[in-house]
Amino acid sequence: MIDTVVDKKRRIAYQFSQSAYRYDDVAQVQLDIGFDAIQLVQANTLGKLLDIGCGTARLTRMLVDKFQHVCGIDLAAGMIEQAKKLNPTDDIKGFIDFHIADAESLPFPDKSFDSIFSCMALQWCTPIQQSLAEANRVLTDDGRAVLALLSEGSMSELQATWGEIDSVPRVNQFIPHRELVKAAQQCGFKVLEQQKTYTTWHPNAISVLNSIRHIGANVVPQTGNHSKLSRQSLAEFERIYKQRFAVEDQLPLSYQVSFLILSKDI
Ligand SMILES: C[S@@+](CC[C@H](N)C(=O)[O-])C[C@H]1O[C@@H](n2cnc3c(N)ncnc32)[C@H](O)[C@@H]1O
Repeated sequence: MIDTVVDKKRRIAYQFSQSAYRYDDVAQVQLDIGFDAIQLVQANTLGKLLDIGCGTARLTRMLVDKFQHVCGIDLAAGMIEQAKKLNPTDDIKGFIDFHIADAESLPFPDKSFDSIFSCMALQWCTPIQQSLAEANRVLTDDGRAVLALLSEGSMSELQATWGEIDSVPRVNQFIPHRELVKAAQQCGFKVLEQQKTYTTWHPNAISVLNSIRHIGANVVPQTGNHSKLSRQSLAEFERIYKQRFAVEDQLPLSYQVSFLILSKDI
């Protein structure tokens, strides 16, 4: 069991590290989601913010003016390397630093951050409870966390299409929104929540699959990384996807995003 968890994390870290150099160029819907999540963050110019799963830190950087100190952590060494390269401390007015770390085992003392932000990262932590408990632990008593993560219904088109081809799990399972809210409450948070759907549109099946692969999100814990598809399977995949979901010849891929605003329930 421990080996499986370590292996899963190693694969997630590897895939995202491999994609770090191109992440900002290809992760467009993730940026739209990030902009929406940032709107929910309250400035605290004397406070300290932790960005969990910061990736290349393009969102972390946008939060620098709102806080005295901003810290980004990520499981993927390649992402942290890129974050440091793209955000040299001399160029940034506020204080910013980056560390390789796991959301499920944060290397910080209790109550050391006034604010927590995490965008499109915590869906990789399953079950979600440990990462929520860690967020609760490092947050000050009057602190606030803003989390945006994928929930059930995300990539349903992919799920449905593969489901018609075979029973190999090729898409991650995402937690239902109401279970996410319940888990946060059970971890000691008061929860304000909302959900929003984002859809990307693609000219063909390769473009759908690449939109996931190119950002490094092609790890499926049960089956490993998406294996190479034969020409025949790809054609079959495209035929079914088109038949079921195409609108004006474009293929949709939807993302259900849960936004949670958390404060300690004390
Ligand atoms: C889709 S990227 C999002 C990056 C950034 N937050 C953004 O919105 O641009 C997801 C990030 O979560 C990181 N991640 C996944 N599991 C993690 C974990 N257990 N602890 C910390 N980071 C994790 C990945 O390495 C990756 O950089």
